[in-house]
Amino acid sequence: MPVTNRRVFVKQRPQGMPTLDDFGHAEDTIETVPEQHVLVKVDTLSVDAFIRTTLDEAGLHEMSELGAPVTALGVGEVLESQFDGLAAGDWVCGPLMAQTHALMPGAAFQKIEPSANIPPSTYLGVLGLTTGLTAWAGMVPVGEVASGNVVVVSGAAGAVGTVAAQLGKARGATVIGIAGGPEKCAFLTGDLGLDGAIDYKNDDIAARLQELAPNGVDVFFDNVGGELLDIVLDNLAVNARVVICGAISQYQHLHDVRGPKLYLRLAERNASMRGFTVDHHAAAFAEAQAELSRLFTEGAVKLPEHVVEGVDNFPDALLTLFNGGHTGKMLVKP
Ligand SMILES: NC(=O)c1ccc[n+]([C@@H]2O[C@H](COP(=O)([O-])OP(=O)(O)OC[C@H]3O[C@@H](n4cnc5c(N)ncnc54)[C@H](OP(=O)(O)O)[C@@H]3O)[C@@H](O)[C@H]2O)c1
Repeated sequence: MPVTNRRVFVKQRPQGMPTLDDFGHAEDTIETVPEQHVLVKVDTLSVDAFIRTTLDEAGLHEMSELGAPVTALGVGEVLESQFDGLAAGDWVCGPLMAQTHALMPGAAFQKIEPSANIPPSTYLGVLGLTTGLTAWAGMVPVGEVASGNVVVVSGAAGAVGTVAAQLGKARGATVIGIAGGPEKCAFLTGDLGLDGAIDYKNDDIAARLQELAPNGVDVFFDNVGGELLDIVLDNLAVNARVVICGAISQYQHLHDVRGPKLYLRLAERNASMRGFTVDHHAAAFAEAQAELSRLFTEGAVKLPEHVVEGVDNFPDALLTLFNGGHTGKMLVKP
């Protein structure tokens, strides 16, 4: 004490795709830790698609105030604690925000126990709320994936998609990933061992889907929405489950979302379409983390990390997430 905190804040509300001008940088000094609070040195920040919606006035998630640090989950080490449940040296996970140090009520955090096998960043990736737990909730209780199913995952080379696709494989499904570009498709079939990949930027998606899934799709885990959702709706198997995890193609214009035209395929194929928010599956998190930890340590679920250095570069990392310039989990080391 005292420590200097450098943070990235919301300067103005983005119009469409955010630009670097929408963000500012500031420094302040933290002098004392009030009762019930902890001071945390941020180790790693998670760059998530939902952050885009917090920048709008009326987004899907809670809005960030202008001047407030950009919303971000992270992991870090407690430097000083005035909160009974945490002590200096403990590791925590929670809403640390885009900054180097966080002074917050201790109750905001969950204590984690990183180890040689499970490094701190895993609590943002394979075991993280917005990545591994989201993939598990969408694939297991919502998608009810079963052995022998044909599963399609969009945004498959991103964080949630990578884990969701491998969970499908681990449960005995045939898994087809959709991603942008030949390199990402090679990652899906090579590194992840998926059964097929569709390059939505270069392939005829409908033709490739019919080729790879001639008997239709049993589970569609959708991260993208828009036109892609319609193409897969047109190729559903009887009793299919369409899982609406997200719709990253729509987040720049939430006031004008393009909904599915072909929703009547659900009735024709006796199929269902169900959205979910990971928080609503908290009762199953212990079960999910047990399965994900096992698969991670066995090497059956892997998640490459794309690490950007420096808190000032948090906005660049967020823009890269939307441009698809990463594979796996996007992280910032502040
Ligand atoms: N339901 C929940 O509780 C919950 C929780 C967390 C996350 N999510 C959702 O999960 C999804 C994935 O999030 P993430 O944080 O893991 O991000 P991510 O998948 O690591 O990154 C986003 C990826 O989306 C792809 N993309 C971007 N714009 C696209 C477009 N217009 N059309 C097609 N693909 C596009 C890009 O890959 P390409 O190079 O392949 O284009 C990019 O790499 C998001 O929809 C997010 O909202 C939902």
